[in-house]
Amino acid sequence: MEASDYFSKIDSALSYIRQQTAVIPEVGIILGSGLGNFTDRISVTNEISYSDIPFFPTTTVEGHSGKFVFGTFQGKAIVAMSGRFHFYEGYSMKEVTLPVRILKLLGISLLIVSNAAGGINPDYRVGDLMVINDHIDKFPENPLRGPNDDRLGVRFPDMSEPYTLDLVDKAMNMGKSLGLSIHQGVYLGILGPKLETKAEIHYLHTVGADAVGMSTVPEVIVARHMDLKVFAVSAITNLCSPNDNVIFTHDNVVEAAKKAETAMSLLIENILKGN
Ligand code: 6GU
Repeated sequence: MEASDYFSKIDSALSYIRQQTAVIPEVGIILGSGLGNFTDRISVTNEISYSDIPFFPTTTVEGHSGKFVFGTFQGKAIVAMSGRFHFYEGYSMKEVTLPVRILKLLGISLLIVSNAAGGINPDYRVGDLMVINDHIDKFPENPLRGPNDDRLGVRFPDMSEPYTLDLVDKAMNMGKSLGLSIHQGVYLGILGPKLETKAEIHYLHTVGADAVGMSTVPEVIVARHMDLKVFAVSAITNLCSPNDNVIFTHDNVVEAAKKAETAMSLLIENILKGN
């Protein structure tokens, strides 16, 4: 796809959204599996289904309703994404990350990303939170591959601090004072949808991953391409540390994410208070 075609798709989607809402969001939040109830905390002004937006992909995974929720939270204008696009579903990387482009062009300066992840670090327990302080990209494709559109960002974006470390520190301090089971660590993003073999888990541990999941990394690459500040947090929904051997089911993950949701919401609420 030509860079200019992609830009015009973004522009059409953006124009449609602007016609539907007067909210100019400062903060965008991507809600991961089982974390969608966060929208209950928003004073909602408008909801826009992805299926109504020109050039928008449509969600397929159960438990994702697929809409933008605009409103206010902690006195800030925000937009939440209830439902995200995963590369394993068959979308292109440009489709997976289109919403992040749109959020930036709608006006956000901070992107908050949540996800459900498997705990590789042996100290982690189901229901813990992990504030992401760095990532390892093991996706087989990259959203920035192809001609670069200079209107969106630079050809070679710096990735030395993808996650704003001030916010990591702040979240760790807040999380601890709120009594949450919270860690900071490295998220390794992988294609999926299959889970990891024991040998792969051993490998991921060895290369320095604390948690593993199938999202977030493409979105963060695009966010950094557009110079957005990023704060990201994983709910540890299942353990896949070298010593544990727990059978993974999607239902277990969604259930564990729901349990972590209160802690996650509390953390995000406190991050937004101070920013
Ligand atoms: Cl254990 N692995 C991967 N790849 N993604 C996950 C996960 C595990 N748990 C939640 N998401």
